Amino acid sequence: MKYWREAFGEINGQTVWQYWLENRQGYQLAVTEYGATITHLVMPDQSGQMANVVIGYDTLADFVKQQAYFGATVGRVAGRIGQGAFTLDGHDYQAPINNGANTNHGGPNSFESQIWQSSVVEKDDAISVVFMLTSPDGENGFPGNLAVTTTYTLNEANEWLIDYQATTDKTTLFNPTCHVYLNLTGDFDQFVGQHTLQIDSDRFGAIQPDGLPTGELVPVAGSVFDLRQPRALQVAFDSENTQTKLVGGFDHPFLLNQTPGKADAILRDPESGRSITIDTEGNAIVIYTANGFGDEPNLTNQAIQPHQAVAIEAQMMPDAIHHTEFGNIVLHPGEQYQRRTRYKLN
Ligand code: BGC
Repeated sequence: MKYWREAFGEINGQTVWQYWLENRQGYQLAVTEYGATITHLVMPDQSGQMANVVIGYDTLADFVKQQAYFGATVGRVAGRIGQGAFTLDGHDYQAPINNGANTNHGGPNSFESQIWQSSVVEKDDAISVVFMLTSPDGENGFPGNLAVTTTYTLNEANEWLIDYQATTDKTTLFNPTCHVYLNLTGDFDQFVGQHTLQIDSDRFGAIQPDGLPTGELVPVAGSVFDLRQPRALQVAFDSENTQTKLVGGFDHPFLLNQTPGKADAILRDPESGRSITIDTEGNAIVIYTANGFGDEPNLTNQAIQPHQAVAIEAQMMPDAIHHTEFGNIVLHPGEQYQRRTRYKLN
């Protein structure tokens, strides 16, 4: 294993660093302090051809301009919180509304646009970059001083690991994710319709037109949401299903079965032979098939088209604070929060 770091750009006179990790087989993971963001993931196709498979720019300035959360650590709470309102320990809290009538991805200028502090941990068969951030009490309406670390690891088993840790001094909400956009062809001018996706999930969370979960968990059986066997994403793009038609693809949480010994999700590009197997300790994977962008350029400086990537967001269910069946995202003082997601790169 080896690593190096380079200046990625400057914000307010402060150098922002990017780290490159590389294993003996030439797999590479690049991450930056800006947003604790993954910027590159380089892996071989079936003939050994290396390519980057995540949306990530070569300069900090380009990252600062985009608003699609490319590769970023999202928090404090990934996905929408209905009306941005929640109650903890008898106190009512209000997060800023930044998405229709709701709060999305922790509210404006959240984890994705902070400069995190970094350090490196080297082992024989793995290298980690540890990003640290303190989110002050009351930031974006959330209670508690929250100390967060996001740790990215690349190892010799060709795995990319993300570990989240956090502590708080007041009861608060915490549900981070990594907003990585993948295209396993390695060519971001191509569409991901031919990628197959498999998810070990019997039920998905239905959404309203504004993307907020309705609270209903719908059986996947008999619909395009049945990904218990691999299915091409194109099927969801072309489907007449009312839920996919709402958003032009998937923008939905899948509640994981968490079957022991079974992968939570597998994304595969049959043409290149690249695949990524995902296992997570959270109870959900949100699939967002990049159904629309602002004026973000793609990696060849063209306007990104819908469906040129797919975001796979491992987390707890969105809007969990309002639906008891969605799991617990409350973090209390004295608790040590810990969650891992593993991406096996094949
Ligand atoms: C959300 C989408 C949103 C995208 C970019 C996804 O996680 O579910 O609705 O457009 O992030 O913010």
